[in-house]
Amino acid sequence: MRVFISAVFLFVFFSLGAAYDPLDPNGNITIKWDIMSWTPDGYVAVVTLNNFQMYRHIMSPGWTMGWTWAKKEVIWSMVGSQTTEQGDCSKFKGNIPHCCKKNPTVVDLMPGVPYNQQFTNCCKGGVVAAWGQDPQAAISAFQLSVGQAGTSNKTVKLPKNFTLLGPGPGYTCGRAKVVPSTTFLTPDRRRKTQALMTWNVTCTYSQFLARKNPNCCVSFSSFYNDTITSCPSCACGCQNKNNCVQNDSKILKLVGINTPRKDNAPLLHCTHHMCPVRVHWHVKQNYKEYWRVKITITNFNYRMNYSLWSLVVQHPNLNNVTQVFSFDYKPLVPYESINDTGMFYGMKFYNDLLMEAGPFGNVQSEVLLRKDQNTFTFKQGWAFPRKVYFNGDECMLPPPDTYPFLPNAARQRPIALSSSITLLLLLLLLAIC
Ligand SMILES: *[C@@H]1O[C@H](CO)[C@@H](O)[C@H](O)[C@H]1NC(C)=O
Ligand SMILES: *[C@@H]1O[C@H](CO)[C@@H](O)[C@H](O)[C@H]1NC(C)=O
Ligand SMILES: *[C@@H]1O[C@H](CO)[C@@H](O)[C@H](O)[C@H]1NC(C)=O
Ligand SMILES: *[C@@H]1O[C@H](CO)[C@@H](O)[C@H](O)[C@H]1NC(C)=O
Ligand SMILES: *[C@@H]1O[C@H](CO)[C@@H](O)[C@H](O)[C@H]1NC(C)=O
Ligand SMILES: *[C@@H]1O[C@H](CO)[C@@H](O)[C@H](O)[C@H]1NC(C)=O
Ligand SMILES: *[C@@H]1O[C@H](CO)[C@@H](O)[C@H](O)[C@H]1NC(C)=O
Ligand SMILES: *[C@@H]1O[C@H](CO)[C@@H](O)[C@H](O)[C@H]1NC(C)=O
Ligand SMILES: *[C@@H]1O[C@H](CO)[C@@H](O)[C@H](O)[C@H]1NC(C)=O
Repeated sequence: MRVFISAVFLFVFFSLGAAYDPLDPNGNITIKWDIMSWTPDGYVAVVTLNNFQMYRHIMSPGWTMGWTWAKKEVIWSMVGSQTTEQGDCSKFKGNIPHCCKKNPTVVDLMPGVPYNQQFTNCCKGGVVAAWGQDPQAAISAFQLSVGQAGTSNKTVKLPKNFTLLGPGPGYTCGRAKVVPSTTFLTPDRRRKTQALMTWNVTCTYSQFLARKNPNCCVSFSSFYNDTITSCPSCACGCQNKNNCVQNDSKILKLVGINTPRKDNAPLLHCTHHMCPVRVHWHVKQNYKEYWRVKITITNFNYRMNYSLWSLVVQHPNLNNVTQVFSFDYKPLVPYESINDTGMFYGMKFYNDLLMEAGPFGNVQSEVLLRKDQNTFTFKQGWAFPRKVYFNGDECMLPPPDTYPFLPNAARQRPIALSSSITLLLLLLLLAIC
């Protein structure tokens, strides 16, 4: 029965999770094209990628953008980015275009390229911060000169079939839509100019498209019970079980063991959950008016540093956070009625990098929460989070009946509740099918 319920749960979790995130309902990545000037055979456009997602960033190795030209367009030149392939430009004599492919694939340039190849907000190796974490860094831009295209807003055809890897799969992009032209202020803010034409493309994320299994799991402990509720077994799938590394393995002494692979294949520390990341929530202390939680995030992947990591937690008492030690914290308020969710992230230059697996592969924080005497309790797992996301992907929680519970409290398993939840899930399932 438990297996069946978890199967239903997983199904509902992943299928309803698709492309809509209740904790960030307006989150998306918008790609905006502003035509800045017409040329004899086309136009010069500035392409801006804005990450409007509160807590999902694009980490190294960065974004890859693609589209299909509507006609026979070519890219004469690019500033601040490049296509990965030039394609067949054999028809051209004299000036050779940067790219002649029907469906170009564009990537950002690396930091430190010569100044004449740079563009505002470019050249960050495709890394884009989450909006909630650093709005100034949640942007990436480049300029391109397009030829064999229309030369007026009547004859330009919008590119089709936009794709975005961020860096892996997960994003689905809608159609390009002409929108009111962007206006720009001159640096002295005394004059407004505007793009000759602007179109937007919106891309949304779905964890279901991104990966088959979760990427992280959650474990619990408390001061009032010495049971440690560990992550569910194979929480992240056990595909890598046969090539994981024990912590005393000689492999770890080899040079280059930490070098990331092109395909981003992980090298995991052997655990029963086989997750690259574990979030541990420890209920540490109880005071009269406050209580204290310790949060530890551990990296089990020897081939990955998580820069600009983020953690989103849903817990009813996050409506009254008094103090967060050694992490930055920001409440997330997707709707006015939801005030139980917040995001934690590393402090710049201190712990915003979650290092590869090993002795330094963890970051920690303590959180002091103010009790609301009407709702606060240590009973029935109330002190543990309802939802946890690492880097924007939902983490697998342990089954509720394994949570550490208060000694002497008769073990009240809420049977009625759990069967009504099962009923609800079944109804949902029927509704979907
Ligand atoms: C994308 O996100 C922005 C910012 O949250 C929002 O204003 C806009 O409506 C969203 N676009 C779509 C198509 O959802
Ligand atoms: C187009 O995208 C920009 C951000 O890149 C946004 O500010 C603007 O509101 C969008 N326009 C529409 C109509 O969605
Ligand atoms: C095209 O330009 C004309 C005049 O320059 C303007 O009236 C019209 O709204 C523009 N159309 C679009 C789709 O931008
Ligand atoms: C865009 O993608 C759709 C579905 O993947 C495909 O049917 C269509 O031919 C593509 N259009 C172009 C212009 O490549
Ligand atoms: C390896 O793991 C075991 C148990 O998890 C621990 O006792 C031991 O100290 C670890 N060894 C090293 C070198 O980290
Ligand atoms: C992680 O960062 C450290 C310090 O910058 C570096 O030495 C190490 O090689 C990096 N590891 C990976 C897997 O990129
Ligand atoms: C937080 O707790 C204080 C003291 O109990 C209370 O005055 C305040 O209204 C609480 N804030 C919220 C958002 O519940
Ligand atoms: C938080 O949300 C709850 C439930 O919607 C609501 O009753 C409460 O007044 C809200 N608190 C604040 C401080 O907005
Ligand atoms: C601690 O919690 C576990 C359930 O996770 C339970 O089996 C155990 O009896 C509890 N210990 C005490 C001392 O109550």
